[in-house]
Amino acid sequence: MEIVRSLPALRDACAALRSRHASLGLVPTMGALHDGHRALVRASVASGAATVASIFVNPLQFAPTEDLSRYPRDEAGDLAALEATGCALAWLPDVETMYPPGEATTISLTGPAERWEGDARPGHFRGVATVCAKLFGQVRPDRAYFGEKDWQQLQVIRRMVADLLLPLEIVGVPTVREADGLAMSSRNRFLTPAERAVAPQLYAALQATASALVGGGPADGVLADARTALGSAGFGVAYLALVDGPTLVPIQAATATARLIAAARLGAVRLLDNIGLPDRQ
Ligand code: PAF
Repeated sequence: MEIVRSLPALRDACAALRSRHASLGLVPTMGALHDGHRALVRASVASGAATVASIFVNPLQFAPTEDLSRYPRDEAGDLAALEATGCALAWLPDVETMYPPGEATTISLTGPAERWEGDARPGHFRGVATVCAKLFGQVRPDRAYFGEKDWQQLQVIRRMVADLLLPLEIVGVPTVREADGLAMSSRNRFLTPAERAVAPQLYAALQATASALVGGGPADGVLADARTALGSAGFGVAYLALVDGPTLVPIQAATATARLIAAARLGAVRLLDNIGLPDRQ
């Protein structure tokens, strides 16, 4: 696996890969890689693409109140994991490369970026979309891979690519879970043992709620009961909602594109999870 840290080196390495492979796949990451990231790399490799993974902890997607310096970093471990998973090229830009002095351009979003994480973390999706647009321009992949775990992020990126007519396909990869159902996330390492024991109840609540909704229960009542149960288990529930999957607009009844989304705090850790409804996962 080649490792590059400057734009000229990236351009040369991508050109060389393109000359030898039918397609390029990009897996954007902020490092601290886990099995969820490995699944993204594997999906790209399995498509036959030469796979580029970026590692860049993007300051623009952190609010001033969020601790960027606390974001887990493990460059050596990440590079070893990428190499072992079949990645061809690791792209590790610095902040000056991604945000040149005097930079004055960001991506402005509405639609799926509104509500939920958009409300909880103002400016977050502007940062995510801006850095992804830059990565797409730098690597010029045929496909880019994002986890369904961050469902709203995936829809925001899909919408941006459609709206800006960017010439790549966005591929969503199903959430990878621990054996007890907890969705894998770089933040899970910050859970205390007691919180870690409770954390899988978020996924269990989503599953129970999805079954009740498919069984015809009234959405408002079913969702309210689930929020109450999670609160009793120790979660600070930010939202647990039934939404239209692509637009994130709340809906009242199960549809073909419905998605159940949730964010809940356990101690200092904000957990996100989501599922489709049972016959549509
Ligand atoms: O999901 C992430 O890790 C980040 O939001 C992403 C897509 C790499 C952009 O910085």
